[in-house]
Amino acid sequence: MSELRLENLVKKFGEVVAVDDLSIMIKKGELVALLGPSGCGKTTALLMIAGIYKPTKGKIFFDDIVVNNVSPKDRGIGLVFQSYALYPHMTAFDNIAFPLKFRKIPKEEIKKRVLEVARFTRIGALLERKPAQLSGGEQQRVALCRALVKNPRVLLLDEPLSNLDARLRIETRVEITRLQKELGITTILVTHDQVEAMAMADRIAVMDKGRLQQVATAEELYNKPANLFVASFIGSPPMNFLEVMYRRDNGRPVLRNEYVTFDIPQKLAQKIEMNNCQKPLLGFRPEDVTLSLQEHKNSFPAKVFLIESLGGANVLVSFKSGNLFFRILAPANFSARLDDTLWIAPQMDKLHLFHQERGEALLD
Ligand SMILES: Nc1ncnc2c1ncn2[C@@H]1O[C@H](COP(=O)(O)OP(=O)(O)OP(=O)(O)O)[C@@H](O)[C@H]1O
Ligand SMILES: [Mg+2]
Repeated sequence: MSELRLENLVKKFGEVVAVDDLSIMIKKGELVALLGPSGCGKTTALLMIAGIYKPTKGKIFFDDIVVNNVSPKDRGIGLVFQSYALYPHMTAFDNIAFPLKFRKIPKEEIKKRVLEVARFTRIGALLERKPAQLSGGEQQRVALCRALVKNPRVLLLDEPLSNLDARLRIETRVEITRLQKELGITTILVTHDQVEAMAMADRIAVMDKGRLQQVATAEELYNKPANLFVASFIGSPPMNFLEVMYRRDNGRPVLRNEYVTFDIPQKLAQKIEMNNCQKPLLGFRPEDVTLSLQEHKNSFPAKVFLIESLGGANVLVSFKSGNLFFRILAPANFSARLDDTLWIAPQMDKLHLFHQERGEALLD
């Protein structure tokens, strides 16, 4: 197991900067997810770590040793792709054993190692089958075994679950995470699915347009997003935003615009003043809101635009207020009708504030 460090990694394809100055340290045994929208550079970053792409700039360290010039097969990595890329004419056993065959490892030793990883992933009974005789989830486990059988120093997973149906995805997610913890293997998981990243990763590195936005635990990303991108990408349904002005009315700190006036706590006011940001963008999550039939403190009126069932304890209510649009989670017994007017009061202690132009979260 290795510690992994990327230092100012850049990858350009002609004019396209696929990965732009990526620096991150991944501890021994840690599982870090690279999370971001399609095209943000996740796979490119992973393939540089694997040695398949050569970085345009920057360094890759495995345990303090630069591996930029080490060939992929000598890096000690296990790689699993979304498409399992199994050999269709070989049995599961031979597929798993394949990476060992070129290494002059005795046959008995190969067998022992294949059986060991197959036992770990609970496919021991399926080893004589060919890929076409296995379900998607089983094929994915064979691919995982093939990556693990080499005892890699680093495991690299690129969207390993996205070909599986919803139920299998959750099952396999649990199995891979458990296995990763048991083996204590340093792992990078590439995914565009925030739920998957949050469920599996010790820390999540959020990327956008080739650039790292924030590296943190799921909880931190959710509670303290570093900028607007992370705030709107993490959390489902996404955060609501509102442009406001800050001022003091007779010493009383308020945030206001043409629709609302919020009396805000002194602590929040200090934060705004410290950041010298008179026109912050205010964010509140769909679940951090009180709804009521009458006006009350720090609330603003909005019309019910749509009510969507989420099949559980909550419904998702979309509101319109002027040309603004908000999504709010309400209890499943929410009884208002379309076009009713309700009062929305964001919880003042859960507000997020961002710099409107720069997008950065205001610092505490
Ligand atoms: N071999 C290549 N040649 C040219 N451009 C490339 C190449 N590989 C990737 N790109 C570009 O680099 C950017 C990052 O691509 P990458 O495959 O790393 O994205 P990704 O985050 O893995 O996306 P996805 O979630 O869709 O897999 C994209 O704009 C893509 O078009
Ligand atoms: Mg990709």
